[in-house]
Amino acid sequence: MIKDIPDYYNNINLILDEIWTLLQRGVVDRNEDFRLPVVIANSDEGADGRIVVLRGAFKDKNILRFHTDYRSPKIEYLKKNKKIYFVFYSKKRKIQVRAEGTATIHKDNEIAKQAWTKTQMMSRKCYLSPQAPGDLISESASDLSKDMGGNVPTLEQSEIGYKNFCVVESKIKSFEWLYLASQGHRRAKFLIDENKNTWLVP
Ligand SMILES: Cc1cc2nc3c(=O)[nH]c(=O)nc-3n(C[C@H](O)[C@H](O)[C@H](O)COP(=O)(O)O)c2cc1C
Repeated sequence: MIKDIPDYYNNINLILDEIWTLLQRGVVDRNEDFRLPVVIANSDEGADGRIVVLRGAFKDKNILRFHTDYRSPKIEYLKKNKKIYFVFYSKKRKIQVRAEGTATIHKDNEIAKQAWTKTQMMSRKCYLSPQAPGDLISESASDLSKDMGGNVPTLEQSEIGYKNFCVVESKIKSFEWLYLASQGHRRAKFLIDENKNTWLVP
């Protein structure tokens, strides 16, 4: 028997629960690597990835959530092509999770309102720029408006950001799990709608 290996090492039935546990930890714990996935959407030119903060992981609905600026290029991509991909990696746990899903954009609806209400003032600052994320500017700045510097907006100042705020929810269709171990890596695939899973060669 190999020592010091987790229960899921040879038990595929434990892995999906472990994935959701790690995702949910990522939502609440800044120190968890799963908090900062790479999210990939498809532009006209091809795949395009960036880091986001994982804001929600709803196991019962198979949904992952992040917040973004509605004016950002990724929203344009997702409107044209709802396919979305996440890559998570925990160095400490030696676990990679890849997820594939379908994105829904929530703008000025109940989900967006609720999420905005819970958003901290520091986070709201990201939505206050009069220019869209990715717009060209001629100087080193966050935007061309009066720079807030290190200041946090007041609640009143922050409210203007709501018109730029949106929540992206992704209904996950599949997960792929990779666990790195010196005694042999383990890889497994989970098709959520089909309720199927299988080991893969790592
Ligand atoms: C640590 C970290 C966290 C980030 N979190 C978010 C986030 O939660 N939402 C977001 O839209 N962008 C976030 N960003 C910025 C994105 O990576 C990206 O630069 C930005 O959203 C513009 O992407 P786009 O031009 O592809 O739309 C984060 C970047 C880093 C480095």
